[in-house]
Amino acid sequence: MRIILVGFGTVGQGFVQLLRDQAAFLRQAHGLIANVVGVATRSRGVLYHPNGLDLDALLMAAQRGDLHTYPDSPGLIHDWTTEELIARSSAEVMIEATPSNLQTGQPATDYCLRALETHKHVILANKGVVALHYAQVKAAAAAVQKQVRFEATVMSGTPAVALAQQGLAGATITRARGILNGTTNYMLTLMETGATYQDALAEAQRLGYAEADPAADVEGWDAAGKALIIANTVLGGCLTMDDIAVEGITQLTPADIRDAQTVGECYRLIADVTPHGGSVRPVRLPLSDPLAAVKGATNAITYDTEPLGPVTLIGVGAGRLQTGFGLLADLLAIRAVS
Ligand code: HSE
Repeated sequence: MRIILVGFGTVGQGFVQLLRDQAAFLRQAHGLIANVVGVATRSRGVLYHPNGLDLDALLMAAQRGDLHTYPDSPGLIHDWTTEELIARSSAEVMIEATPSNLQTGQPATDYCLRALETHKHVILANKGVVALHYAQVKAAAAAVQKQVRFEATVMSGTPAVALAQQGLAGATITRARGILNGTTNYMLTLMETGATYQDALAEAQRLGYAEADPAADVEGWDAAGKALIIANTVLGGCLTMDDIAVEGITQLTPADIRDAQTVGECYRLIADVTPHGGSVRPVRLPLSDPLAAVKGATNAITYDTEPLGPVTLIGVGAGRLQTGFGLLADLLAIRAVS
């Protein structure tokens, strides 16, 4: 499968690293030969080669911070814009992994529509597109009989979307509740051991959990975006950000966390959503609550369903390879039917 990546930061590079390291397994177990033919970044260059790029050399060029340091070869194009790469490349799949804009969903939504117009499947790590414009992008995909998939947008590679859309396809899901942001859960866990807010945030950034602008994590917007994604794709809702009451962890002090600990409680940033609205806010939980045991960058989601009752999934919620794995899962799902 010929693939282009639009956005080549932490997640895009994690995905390419998985393709490189798992190439033999993917070919043997799934018959997948993934050929990355193009990569576009906003400020570090665009590369395209119709025969495919060398993944080692690509990762090295990215680490040097300039894709133009990728070795030149006959047929290599490096003067296209992102729009040209999307429209003119021979790719069958576009992976959109630019930073999520939860206010406008742009420019990623336009990239997706352009990719679909030019008959490419779309796989998203970008949360803004799905949270704000899913109906439009899904309709555009249906019109050209292409797929738009977004496993990586919620709980990174942990299959929260697949569980709902496939495993629970025959159920009615009425509500989703859980911990949907890895950065803040990691920070709260570290602060429980005495770390300062600033040190905990710096460590979450170093480990590749945080958004490009970590305000989205600590102010609750990233979790709210994921709640919107679940509401509008899985619960059948039609919500906007205005339907989610959002409060992050910025007001929580080490003293608050210590006070909770002294009475056997802890704070978790809980997202709670139904088809009619929802909230994201820090909640003080008894240590006996199962969500209190969810620590570090681990996330959890409970779907309230008919007729099964509550179904809970716990797994990693953020990270370079972990989110790359969500993209790989979508690529395999497309591969399975095309
Ligand atoms: N910044 C996000 C988080 C990344 O911490 O959960 C995964 O979506």
